[in-house]
Amino acid sequence: MKIAFIGGGNMGRAMLSAVLDRNLSTPGDIAVSDVSAARLKQLEREFGIRTAGSNPDALSGGDVVILAVKPQNLADVMAEIGGLLETGQLVLSIIAGKKLDTLRHGLGHDAVVRAMPNTPAQIGRGVTVWTATSQVSGKQQTQAAAVLGAMGSEIYVVDEGYLDMATAVSGSGPAYLFLFMEALTSAAVDIGLPLDIARELVLETVIGSAEFARKSGGELVGLRKMVTSSGGTTAAALDVLEQGRFAGLLKNAVAAAYDKARELGG
Ligand SMILES: NC(=O)c1ccc[n+]([C@@H]2O[C@H](COP(=O)([O-])OP(=O)(O)OC[C@H]3O[C@@H](n4cnc5c(N)ncnc54)[C@H](OP(=O)(O)O)[C@@H]3O)[C@@H](O)[C@H]2O)c1
Repeated sequence: MKIAFIGGGNMGRAMLSAVLDRNLSTPGDIAVSDVSAARLKQLEREFGIRTAGSNPDALSGGDVVILAVKPQNLADVMAEIGGLLETGQLVLSIIAGKKLDTLRHGLGHDAVVRAMPNTPAQIGRGVTVWTATSQVSGKQQTQAAAVLGAMGSEIYVVDEGYLDMATAVSGSGPAYLFLFMEALTSAAVDIGLPLDIARELVLETVIGSAEFARKSGGELVGLRKMVTSSGGTTAAALDVLEQGRFAGLLKNAVAAAYDKARELGG
């Protein structure tokens, strides 16, 4: 698959690395453009891909054109490449909050996919929710699923509204978990554990619990009850979390992120 990347930063690099790892493309199939010459040089050195002198130059021959710039740079990119895309090319945007309609009109191109990946995509363990305009063909949907699936799991949705919801859950979700992990590490140190042991315990507990939840296939509430014997240590801790309205607080946090995602998307 021939792929053009507009933007070779954190996510562009992660996607590039993932498609090469999965042999979806060879380095010769990939062109990247970026405003940072140093970043392009680094990508060329690391992956042997072609770097383009400008955004329009990167487009030629790409089956898929991936937009991986920050939201505030999209207008510039659309001004540069708008009207230059050929019928048959698929645009795949991972730009947070930018709607299919904005992309379609700004680019003068109908075949557009909008995706919301998350940070673990950088190690191939992300989850991406994506949607597409009705002009995206079956073959192009398969291409989009392959590129996004190279970064972890992917979930196609028909309703674009789900992308703002996913932004509040899986997009911002890693930050919620990092905060939880920071707090648990700090609490562990407070009761006397050395920091290095506390870090390892927290990390392994989170990874192990998530994998256990997936492999056991059980309901989360059942798994929680399995760890909680009446009058025991876990029950004592969960009582405190309940008094502090832990679940309600998280609900408010996700609602705030969802409101913000919709506000940013206009
Ligand atoms: N990071 C995540 O986990 C994550 C998750 C979901 C979605 N996203 C979305 O992914 C997109 C990229 O995020 P990122 O973290 O990869 O950002 P990033 O590291 O800043 O990468 C963007 C790259 O695009 C370059 N750029 C800026 N303006 C450009 C232009 N006009 N033409 C070509 N290249 C240009 C930037 O150069 P300069 O740095 O010199 O400006 C930078 O190298 C964002 O829209 C974000 O919403 C990211």
